[in-house]
Amino acid sequence: METDQLFKNNRKWVLEKLKQDPNYFSKLAKGQAPEYLYIGCSDSRVSAEAMMGAEPGELFVHRNIANVVPNTDLNVMSVINYAVVYLKVNNIIVCGHYNCGGINAAMKTSDLCILNPWLRNIRDVYRMHKPELEKIEDEENKFKYLVRLNVREQCVNVLKTKEVQDAIKERGLRVHAWVFDIHTGKLIDLELDFQSVIRNLKDLY
Ligand code: CO
Repeated sequence: METDQLFKNNRKWVLEKLKQDPNYFSKLAKGQAPEYLYIGCSDSRVSAEAMMGAEPGELFVHRNIANVVPNTDLNVMSVINYAVVYLKVNNIIVCGHYNCGGINAAMKTSDLCILNPWLRNIRDVYRMHKPELEKIEDEENKFKYLVRLNVREQCVNVLKTKEVQDAIKERGLRVHAWVFDIHTGKLIDLELDFQSVIRNLKDLY
């Protein structure tokens, strides 16, 4: 699609919104109070708002390759802090997806330069769960299993943060592990027991 077309689409979208509500954009400009922080993959096929039917203002979004939450990544840590402490979201979703290129790359041994340290986060998930993963003979099933494991482990990283632990205690914030099944378009809830994850974390914060 040409960039000219993107601007045409934008003007059409503005007109549609104003037709529904002449004050739509002046309301939007006033501020945000999203209920959800969504952490997902940058993959162009996985559009958070589209697949959930969410409107502008409803999701605070962070996306990166393979929806990773490294404990020392200032970007994702700042997003979590801002969303939880200032926007006071009550739900954090970590959403992976099947056929994730980042997960696929992490399962291979190739040297991918600057991507190596990023993929290391996923390769560590593989290393931690190696015995259960190696039991799966079918490569496609193993790939899907690692997608799910990665989402769970990234949720653990979310749950390690002080602001998330405080918000769970103080106002019942919830953390969700989801997978988008790119073959069917459906979201799958992995039903993360985040309370038991917290209990198993030896050191708070
Ligand atoms: Co992906």
